[in-house]
Formats: sequence, C-alpha cells, structure tokens
Amino acid sequence: MAKAKTTNTSWGGRFKVPTAGGAQAFTASIGFDIRLYPYDVRVSIAHTKMLAHTGIISAADRNKIVKGLHAVEKELDSGKFTPQVSDEDIHMAIERRLRERIGSVGAKLHAARSRNDQVITDVRLFVKDAIAVIDDAIGGLQKALIGVCKKYESAIMPGYTHLQRAQPVLLGHHLLAYYDMLSRDRERLASCLERVDILPLGAGAIAGTTLPIDRAYVAKELGFARIAENSMDAVSDRDFILEFLSDMAILFAHLSRLAGEITMWATAEFGFVTLHDAYSTGSSMMPQKKNPDIAELVRGKSGRVYGNLVSVLTTIKGLPLAYNSDLQEDKEPLFDSVDTATGSLTTLAAMVTSLRFNEEAMAAAASDGFLLATDLAEYLVSAGEPFRKAHEVAGNIVLHCLENDISPTDLDAKALRKFSKKFGDDIERLMTPRQSVDRRKVVGGTASSNLKRRLRKLSK
Ligand code: ARG
Repeated sequence: MAKAKTTNTSWGGRFKVPTAGGAQAFTASIGFDIRLYPYDVRVSIAHTKMLAHTGIISAADRNKIVKGLHAVEKELDSGKFTPQVSDEDIHMAIERRLRERIGSVGAKLHAARSRNDQVITDVRLFVKDAIAVIDDAIGGLQKALIGVCKKYESAIMPGYTHLQRAQPVLLGHHLLAYYDMLSRDRERLASCLERVDILPLGAGAIAGTTLPIDRAYVAKELGFARIAENSMDAVSDRDFILEFLSDMAILFAHLSRLAGEITMWATAEFGFVTLHDAYSTGSSMMPQKKNPDIAELVRGKSGRVYGNLVSVLTTIKGLPLAYNSDLQEDKEPLFDSVDTATGSLTTLAAMVTSLRFNEEAMAAAASDGFLLATDLAEYLVSAGEPFRKAHEVAGNIVLHCLENDISPTDLDAKALRKFSKKFGDDIERLMTPRQSVDRRKVVGGTASSNLKRRLRKLSK
C-alpha cells in the first residue's frame, strides 16, 4: 500500500492519504494554543523525568530529551522555531521539533500519555498562573480605591436608591463597597484554585496505561496538590474552566458597575468627578469632548466575558465521555477572559488613581435637606415614638416643605414642634449631612469613625 508522504508523523500510521489542506487548517489549534508552549515544555520535562525514574526509559535518554526540550523552548522564545498549521497543535509542534533536533530518541517521549491528558495538564498550569496574576491585579484595583478613599476621606456625597437621592454617605464608604465586592472575587478565585490544582496526566487517552508510571512523582514535579482519581473524568473535566469563567463573569459584573458609575459621575449633570486627560479620549468631530472611554470599555467588555462563560458551558453540554474534539473550543474563551480581565483591571486601577473628585459638587448634592428626612424620623423614634408614627410625621414635614418650596433644614426646632412635640432644640444641630453621616456609627454604617478605622485596617 502506497504511504502518504505528508501525513502527520504522530498519527500517520493508519492513514493512506494526507489530510486535505482546508481540513488541516480547520482542525488545527496551533493558532491559539501556541501560548501554552512554556507549560507544555514543563509538562513534557516532568513526564520525561518520571519515565526515567520508573525505568521506562534510560537516564541517558532522559538527559537527551530534557536537553532537547529546553532547546526547543529557547527556539520558541526567540522565534527561531515557528510551528506550522501542519503541526496541528502545540503538543505536536514541540514533539516534531524535538525529534528534528535529537533524532529517534525523541520518539520515546510520548510513552504512557496522550494529548488528551497532556493538553488539560497544560491548561491547568496556565489557569493556576492566570489566577495568581488576576488576583494580584484585583489587589491593585483595591489599592487604587483605598488611595482615593484616603485622599478624599471626609468627602460627602448623596447615596442613591433607585438612582434617586437617598441619604448622605461618605465617598469612601461608597468606594469601599467595591473593595468588598473585589474581596469576594478574590475569595472565589482562591476557592476555584483548589479544583484547578489537580493533575490529569497519567490518564492517557481515556483508560490509563499499562506502563508502570508514577503519577505522584509527576504531581510533585509540577506542583499539583492532588491527582485526578478517574481517568475518564480527568481528560474530559472542564469544570475548573467553567468555574474560572464564572468568577470572571462575576468580577466583570462588579467592574462594569464601578465603570458605569464613573461614567455617570463624569457627566455635566453629575459633575462629581473629572477624568485625567491621560485616561480619557476625545471626539473626532466635537472638539469639546472628553470621553470616559476606559470606563465605557470595561463596562462593554463584560459582554464578551459573560459570553465566554456561556460559550464553554454550551460546548460542554451533552458531550459523551470522555475526550471529544469539541473540547478544543475551551481555549479561546478562556484566554480571552484572562486577557480581558488582566487588561481591564490594570487600566481601570490607573484610571481610578488619576480621578479628581469635585468635593464641592458632591457636597452640594448631598446638602439637599430632603436627604435628612430619615434622620427626622429616627430622632422621633429615639424620643419614644413608634417608627410608623415617626415616619408619618416626617412624611408630613416633607409634604409641607414641598408645598411651600422650602427644605426640611429650613425649619427650626419651633417649626418642627408643630408636627411633633417630641422635637427638642438639639434637632437643629443634628440636621446636617455631616451629622447624618457621622451618627451612623453602627457596624457597617457610613460614619467617618468607621471609615477611618477600616482604612487603617486595610492599609496594613
Ligand atoms: N488540540 C487539542 C485540544 O486543544 C489537543 C488534544 C487533541 N486530542 C486529539 N485526540 N485530537 O484539545
């Protein structure tokens, strides 16, 4: 039987003709999995050492293969070796180049493994690194938020519910809400890491291997905490990718809310914040424009990050065990969410640091006396009035003010006593945004003393 000349050297044995050009380009993943090469080299080196440790190959062969893998990695670093579409994926590209460099001994490397367990070992190492980088970048944004809180520690703004002015709050209190969201994002990543940190290698293509391998040895070499117990699950499990992508989706829910608020605060209507020239962009037509592009794009990119999660969820749905080529589609969404998160977090952190808050504009908005209506009601509760009654009295005061086009802060104690005898003279002193803020000393409340304590703790 005539043998095809250009059939892939790794699996060409049972084929009569080479893969059609178009089919090869369509099935190849080298265009995107090339970035896994440092992990693939590490995995192959650990595997080679194990093969020698267990006597499957000789120490001399091990030395040649390990040296060759280091050389191939250097060639990839420098761009001297560029994998081709005909290599199909990064695993075969590296093996092909290894065999070109060290000859037939290179053919011993792939004993007791399959690309099915190899690829997902690479990806797990990649995600472990990605989690560390993103955790660090989230920490960077948290640090930027703390910097703003400290710079504007006494700044008061209106807090909103239903995007209607509700009660005065400290800007720092508002921003630390984002700090807390980001802390949960980091907790989620730390928890995800426990399920990423599992070695699949040794599962082979599906069923394990008859060769006397030592998986614990490989786990130790690669720094995996655990070993996958079931070979079929090992090669088809993508839960850790789904979890990571979910964590990124939730992170972007938070980032897009922060970005959305900054965009809103930078409007002429709000005027709470001025963007730094270096972190905003202009319009090609309207010369006066300064646009919050970074914030808008972070908000917008939440779309692709959510999409990446849905993409992989959909790819995995209904797949029979064990490995299926569908799973090759896990990588681009994963890589995209990693890159989008890293880029968004670092740029947003720098942009947040450069923000100039307009304390007067925020204070003016917060000095709207109606924002203190709850304080009137709570004053009456302290004086012994049941809350529902107190709420009604305060409501009557609000109505009176609306009808007479005045503010509750325009009423002195005597005027307030027309609504309730329980108002003492001290009510006048308490009816300021500063008092309203600082008296909310309850755990989790917006009082300055709370913010000060929290910032001191967080700065450590
Ligand atoms: N390129 C493949 C992937 O990304 C590697 C595993 C392929 N295995 C196979 N038998 N085709 O998932």
